[in-house]
Amino acid sequence: MRTQVGIIGAGPAGLMLSHLLHLQGIDSIILEKRSREEIEGTIRAGLLEQGTVDLMKKTGVGERLMREGHFHEGIELRFNGQSHRVNLHDLTGGKKVTVYAQHEVIKDLVAARLNVGGKIIFNAQEVSLHDIETTEPKIQFHYDKDSELQEISCDYIAGCDGFHGPSRPSIPNSIRKEYQKIYPFGWLGILTEAPPSAPELIYANHERGFTLLSTRSPEVQRLYLQVNPNDDITNWPDDRIWKELHARLEINGEWKLTEGPIIQKNIVPMRSFVCDPMQYGRLFLAGDAAHIVPPTGAKGLNLAIADVQVLARALDTYYATGNEELLKRYSTICLRRVWKAERFSWSMTAMLHRHPDHTPFEQQIQLAELDYVTSSRAAATTLAENYVGLPIEWQAGEKEETIAGFLYNE
Ligand code: FAD
Ligand code: DHB
Repeated sequence: MRTQVGIIGAGPAGLMLSHLLHLQGIDSIILEKRSREEIEGTIRAGLLEQGTVDLMKKTGVGERLMREGHFHEGIELRFNGQSHRVNLHDLTGGKKVTVYAQHEVIKDLVAARLNVGGKIIFNAQEVSLHDIETTEPKIQFHYDKDSELQEISCDYIAGCDGFHGPSRPSIPNSIRKEYQKIYPFGWLGILTEAPPSAPELIYANHERGFTLLSTRSPEVQRLYLQVNPNDDITNWPDDRIWKELHARLEINGEWKLTEGPIIQKNIVPMRSFVCDPMQYGRLFLAGDAAHIVPPTGAKGLNLAIADVQVLARALDTYYATGNEELLKRYSTICLRRVWKAERFSWSMTAMLHRHPDHTPFEQQIQLAELDYVTSSRAAATTLAENYVGLPIEWQAGEKEETIAGFLYNE
């Protein structure tokens, strides 16, 4: 088999890349180790930045998102028994965020690729990368464990295979610098069949630990609790979860959390991670394969989408003109934005969680920071502009919201 761009992984990064390349007339094949049902059923993120939504709309995969997504112009920060609104719309010159589940984005992108004959090989086994330092890199795999070895020759390989995939380790250790921070807490996430308890997302700092109240639809709500990362979900029967949520979300005054049956629950650990460079030879890493953020800033999926916008444009420039300049700068362009999202996600995490090793002094500093962010327009603006998403900087000082304009000459 041969293709121009071999893509490993059908997460948001791999699927959006394949979609953008198709719109630019560039051929790709996606290799995904899981089944279509599994990738379309995995519950993860839910919050899309303005730039992600704009890109989906402008590239023809935003129709259901616009119908079923929930648009939020603010968020609520809760601490010391009080609630404070951050008006994102007002502070960012009219931007919003959208709640639309990651697996719905996946369904829309898979459908868009398959409708136009796009190639996604599901259940691909033992995927491996070869000759990435040459001009003809190859991906090998098996259709199933008993079948023959298959090979795809490519011009380029996009490693969009998440944190545990084979792409990043294919970059030699001597080239790859990795930065990591492991947090001493994790998130217990639930889906519950209940009506919304609030019109906007609530991020709550409480002495018992952080809580986030989000939504999915008028019938299903998404909530998260800070827990010990080594805790087992079997230690969390539903009544314990509700008791903890009620305690951590309580405010002085009228407000009530509405309960419902819990239909899904799990615990995820939290880390910050960056791999530098994001490119080696003809291999380009995108999304979680290259970087991880703790979920507090809601940046992971959005970073994955931003990376592949840069990669799609760089590949388009190369195929249209033979100029490799943007491909060479791929890692530099992405990492500038990645480090800013790492900083924001780390700072939101630090501001909102209870740190087991914090002294009373550090707890007071944390409350002072929350007080500052909710009482100073300058501090609130900093939070808001990061939360709705920073622009891509192609050169220092040259900012652009999305490449959709370039695709469609708007
Ligand atoms: P992935 O989604 O991990 O996709 C990688 C794909 O590669 C997978 O389908 C995997 O099966 C496949 N793969 C792996 N290994 C192989 C292999 N060997 N061969 C072939 N295929 C392989 N982000 C946000 O922006 N907003 C949020 O609100 C948010 N909330 C979150 C809440 C939680 C609880 C969690 C866990 C994450 C959250 N995130 C959020 C992060 C977001 O889910 C990830 O950053 C996002 O999935 C990254 O997309 P990706 O395409 O890079 O990787
Ligand atoms: C969701 C997840 C997040 O990490 C976040 O910061 C906001 C919303 C969600 O899943 O809805």
